[in-house]
Amino acid sequence: MTHSEPDGVPVLALEGVSRSFGAVRALQDVSVRLFPGEAHALAGENGAGKSTLIKTLAGVHRPDKGRVLLDGRPVVFHGPADARDAGVAVIYQEPTLFPDLSVAENLFMGRQPRRSLGRVDHAAVRSATARLFQQLGVDLDPDRPARGLSIADQQLVEIAKALSFDARVLIMDEPTAALTGSEVARLFRVVRTLLERGAAVLFISHRLEEVFALCQRVTTLRDGRLVSSEPVAGLTEDGLVRRMVGRDLDELYPKQPAELGEVALSVRRLTREGVFTDVSFDVRAGEIVGLAGLVGAGRSEVARAVFGVDRWDAGEVLVDGVALTRGAPSKAIAAGMALVPEDRRAQGLVMEMSIARNIGLTGLRATTTAGLMNRGAERDRALDWAVRLQVKFARLADTVGTLSGGNQQKVVLAKWLATGPRVLIVDEPTRGIDVGTKAEVHRLLSHLAGQGVAVLMISSDLPEILGMADRVLVMHEGRITAEIPRAEATEETVMTAATGRERSAA
Ligand SMILES: Nc1ncnc2c1ncn2[C@@H]1O[C@H](COP(=O)(O)OP(=O)(O)OP(=O)(O)O)[C@@H](O)[C@H]1O
Ligand SMILES: [Mg+2]
Repeated sequence: MTHSEPDGVPVLALEGVSRSFGAVRALQDVSVRLFPGEAHALAGENGAGKSTLIKTLAGVHRPDKGRVLLDGRPVVFHGPADARDAGVAVIYQEPTLFPDLSVAENLFMGRQPRRSLGRVDHAAVRSATARLFQQLGVDLDPDRPARGLSIADQQLVEIAKALSFDARVLIMDEPTAALTGSEVARLFRVVRTLLERGAAVLFISHRLEEVFALCQRVTTLRDGRLVSSEPVAGLTEDGLVRRMVGRDLDELYPKQPAELGEVALSVRRLTREGVFTDVSFDVRAGEIVGLAGLVGAGRSEVARAVFGVDRWDAGEVLVDGVALTRGAPSKAIAAGMALVPEDRRAQGLVMEMSIARNIGLTGLRATTTAGLMNRGAERDRALDWAVRLQVKFARLADTVGTLSGGNQQKVVLAKWLATGPRVLIVDEPTRGIDVGTKAEVHRLLSHLAGQGVAVLMISSDLPEILGMADRVLVMHEGRITAEIPRAEATEETVMTAATGRERSAA
């Protein structure tokens, strides 16, 4: 069902496109049309085919069937460079700037204005960059090195680059997943500037409120097929979820009251110089403690130190009253601790190894009999968790690298849950995970707490923290600034502490 599209010719379109990877049909007979000045959302569950569609538009994949149309005429992109030359810019979730080059040099990489004798005209590069930033309303120093820029700032550099190429189509694959609320607002301002200049935008996000805030039109995919393409106006969140999931949604945050046991994890005055200071808290068996704060407050760094991935300079971590050795994750694992890291690509998975092996990696001991690995047991347990988390895959023997982004995340969760931890630290457990599975992850965490697991949950998703946590700790600039019991935790109390403002005397 396609209706009320703008008049005129779409700047970029797919027409009846199919694309398979082996036996997996990632896209089947999908059409989509992007118009100038319109922000178009692409919705769908993990593995629905969104990234594949984007890569087809961007010249990374070639369609098996169907065609790509540019200004209404068939076109074949032989690679990403072809698509870029045609005015199609893609911003991925994690941009790839050169850390040692300046912002301006990154922007004009390989095509710097030159003076006589071929020397790069640095002044021209700098002023051209400043002009682009001004057009976009971005406040960044062209001379600073790219190293140390936040992901949000790196994305803005990429968008400025797109503008410098006169990109007519801007495609963004989950650009907001690692951004704070104010960074998202800034990104949207910049995108709206481009829309006003007549660019067409294609946008993917698992946060539906963002789709409604930014986009005029939304196309939904399910299992590689087109479900609908329609105006956002007149559509409700529930309606969009139904198109994505094909059914009504389970309740998010199914928090069950749990009986609290003894203190399982105890963190005492933990300090890592220049990163976090004097951090103390307990988590009891059966308790879910939320760790809230803005991106950069030091939450993930605390988690990494507690688990032993990073060293700490002072303080103590105890599991069941026994002190852990600092900087020794193997000791933490032996004591019953598990950490589902934030950066799952880098820290959680071996992309070239199979799904089964990735899930089995941490639990080798449990399935090893007399030093021999029991492949059958490993496989059974892996399958059990993969099914519970609704991982979408063709075969357990497939490499993790072939899974969609959200399904890779589920594999990391499965891998650590399969270790049967007593203390579970999850860092952004539902980032990149679709709305349907989100409820499943929440139910799992709640169930684990009910069985006496102590859960420390880091999340930037405030409703998730408020919905799931028995108690909320808030970090600001490397310190814990508030501890709020469930009954008193509201967006207001948490955000006030997270931004370091004084609590208003009410
Ligand atoms: N290079 C590849 N090799 C094999 N299979 C692939 C490859 N790329 C994608 N697939 C498969 O195609 C399907 C669609 O994947 P895609 O990445 O497009 O999903 P997505 O909608 O972007 O999901 P997510 O929300 O999790 O990012 C999945 O089943 C995935 O495993
Ligand atoms: Mg994807």
